[in-house]
Amino acid sequence: MIVDRQGRRFRNLRVSLTAACNYACTYCVPDGKRLVAAQDELSADAMVRGVAYLIEAAGIERLRVTGGEPLVSPKLETFLRGVGQLGLNDISLTSNGQLLSRKLPLLVECGIRRLNLSLDTLDAAAFRSIARGGDLATVLAGMDEARVAGLKIKVNMVPLRGQNLDQVLPLLDYCLERGFELRFIELMRMGHLARDGNGFLQQFVGMPELLAMIGERHGFTQADAPVDATALRYEIPGRGFFGVIANESVPFCRTCSRLRLSSTGWLHGCLSSSNRHYVGDLLDKPRHQALPALQRLLVKALGDKQDVAFSGGATVMKIIGG
Ligand code: 5AD
Repeated sequence: MIVDRQGRRFRNLRVSLTAACNYACTYCVPDGKRLVAAQDELSADAMVRGVAYLIEAAGIERLRVTGGEPLVSPKLETFLRGVGQLGLNDISLTSNGQLLSRKLPLLVECGIRRLNLSLDTLDAAAFRSIARGGDLATVLAGMDEARVAGLKIKVNMVPLRGQNLDQVLPLLDYCLERGFELRFIELMRMGHLARDGNGFLQQFVGMPELLAMIGERHGFTQADAPVDATALRYEIPGRGFFGVIANESVPFCRTCSRLRLSSTGWLHGCLSSSNRHYVGDLLDKPRHQALPALQRLLVKALGDKQDVAFSGGATVMKIIGG
């Protein structure tokens, strides 16, 4: 097992199935242009092999399927069926929910029990101006169908000053009423926001301000969370839980156990580092050749992790999916 000086190792793998997305959220892409799949994306079979090799070489225990938007990818079914055979005890998926209704039967059939769904507002007009695509009512309908199907749902909201702060309490109520765990994600300096410091500061809302807003309406206490969790969890007694992913306010780099594989075959050891390591060619090799080479790259990828705090990165979130 590859472990660093801080005792960190890779445990959770995130695979970006495609860079393509049917939304163009303002915090993700600067120009409103939706992303299309890269020319050189890996096949579903190569990605399944990648996951299998990484389970062995890095000790991966949990898998999250991301994008782009994973539900737009034609590789979804083959990939999910493939990774379903690898003995992982947890496979979850991050999505914007736009195609959830349509894909739900497949997800259920492939054993997906947990979803992280992005939802930044319950206001249809604000939704359009943040997501620059999609349709709020369709997303909400899909979420309800997933809930009825018994999936565990976390909802991700990125609070943005001037755009959706009025939605913090309504979204919290919406989620509490449905048993969804709402997670506020502090805006990260990714992609264009890493270059545009002013734009970032104008929109950024930190955890203390959020907790103060919630505290005016609800009493809450801190709740347990796994050691390598990114979210601080809170319980509103009798009502449910919410979390804050406080990249800036309470950095979690010291316990980070995440490894990311992009749709074009690059390993990223850290969201905040522009280093990446190409493994696409290794995935066509037999196990005895691929594993030693992968192990060498994993040592480098682990070395890319920040010591203390997230400092942002040129890598665009949409490519590696958070
Ligand atoms: N800062 C914070 N969160 C982001 N996401 C995408 N880009 C950013 C950013 N710059 C979120 C999406 C999605 C999750 C995977 O990451 O809203 O819910």
